Amino acid sequence: MSENSPQQLVWMITGCSTGFGRRFVPAILRKGDKVIATARKLSTIENLANEVSEQGLDASNLKTLELDLEWNTAKLAGVVNEALKVWGRIDVLVNNGGVGMKSLIEEADAQKFARQFQINMFGHVDVINSVLPSMRARRSGTILVFGSRSSWRPELPVRNLKLDDTCYWVLLTSYSSGNCEGLYASSKAAFTAYAETLATEIALFSIRVLIVQPSSFRTENMLTYPYHDDKRIPEYDFLREKALAGAGSLHGNQPGDPVKAVELVVDVVRGEGKAKGKKFPRYLPLGSNAGQAIKEKTEIMKSVLEEWGDIIGSELDYETIGGTKMEYS
Ligand SMILES: NC(=O)c1ccc[n+]([C@@H]2O[C@H](COP(=O)([O-])OP(=O)(O)OC[C@H]3O[C@@H](n4cnc5c(N)ncnc54)[C@H](OP(=O)(O)O)[C@@H]3O)[C@@H](O)[C@H]2O)c1
Repeated sequence: MSENSPQQLVWMITGCSTGFGRRFVPAILRKGDKVIATARKLSTIENLANEVSEQGLDASNLKTLELDLEWNTAKLAGVVNEALKVWGRIDVLVNNGGVGMKSLIEEADAQKFARQFQINMFGHVDVINSVLPSMRARRSGTILVFGSRSSWRPELPVRNLKLDDTCYWVLLTSYSSGNCEGLYASSKAAFTAYAETLATEIALFSIRVLIVQPSSFRTENMLTYPYHDDKRIPEYDFLREKALAGAGSLHGNQPGDPVKAVELVVDVVRGEGKAKGKKFPRYLPLGSNAGQAIKEKTEIMKSVLEEWGDIIGSELDYETIGGTKMEYS
């Protein structure tokens, strides 16, 4: 492949210290592509070049930069400008960095939500906005947004609860991957809705959006973020303790292999391997539990529509609009 042939893509990734982000780097280099790996602290990725060299990969196709998603808009734009200067373009932007703050909803205030949203969504919005002008100018580019299965099933703690005869909630199992993840799931749902809209707006410029929705993958830190502790409401003690035990028991036992996941994502972007011949998707749910969560949520919504029918739909419309009787097909 020549230096700037369309087949040789330039990738930029946030959150490469651990997890999916770190594993993307060799998967991308193995294809002959170039990668700008970023991390909140540069020291966490300074040995990446040695790591990839030891795997027989070309470390000259790797550049590392510092990028903290909690930085302000101007500082994030500065890093993107620096990244654009490295090889003159960014073909694929991977919005991967994130944290899973643990809290029960009532025990978190708006500031906690704001921090969760800053890291998992707002920082990415600034990065994306800084990359888009160059992609629009070239009428080409791919934006990857890391959503999550949890946005399809944020109510996991309740799924494991049942009302007993005395109307107390009883925890049926102590195992659940999603307990205490209301802040996280909210941020991922918002980021997903944002990406869905973005996709329709930037399709005009031949820029693609891929919404990746992993379920439980065995990465280093996604489940290790400490529970925030400054407001404990005693009535929730039982639920909180069970929820935290559930999250603790899942860490290290997640079924998903992140190496297999990133290799598939790279193939999807490049239209190769297992993705060859398939249409580029808007959504990429990943892992054995993702499909189940999506099916369940779809069934719930279908049953609501079936049970309530026109009572919640056309019966709420005006009889006429502008003098015309409305007809819907
Ligand atoms: N693993 C799963 O099961 C799963 C499921 C659904 C979605 N996801 C999503 O996948 C993405 C990657 O997570 P992971 O599973 O690979 O977990 P991980 O091992 O915890 O990696 C998360 C990465 O995000 C970085 N990060 C955290 N705060 C940041 C900030 N302020 N600025 C820049 N980077 C920051 C971390 O850097 P530091 O080390 O410097 O903190 C780390 O590199 C996340 O968006 C996550 O929500 C994961």
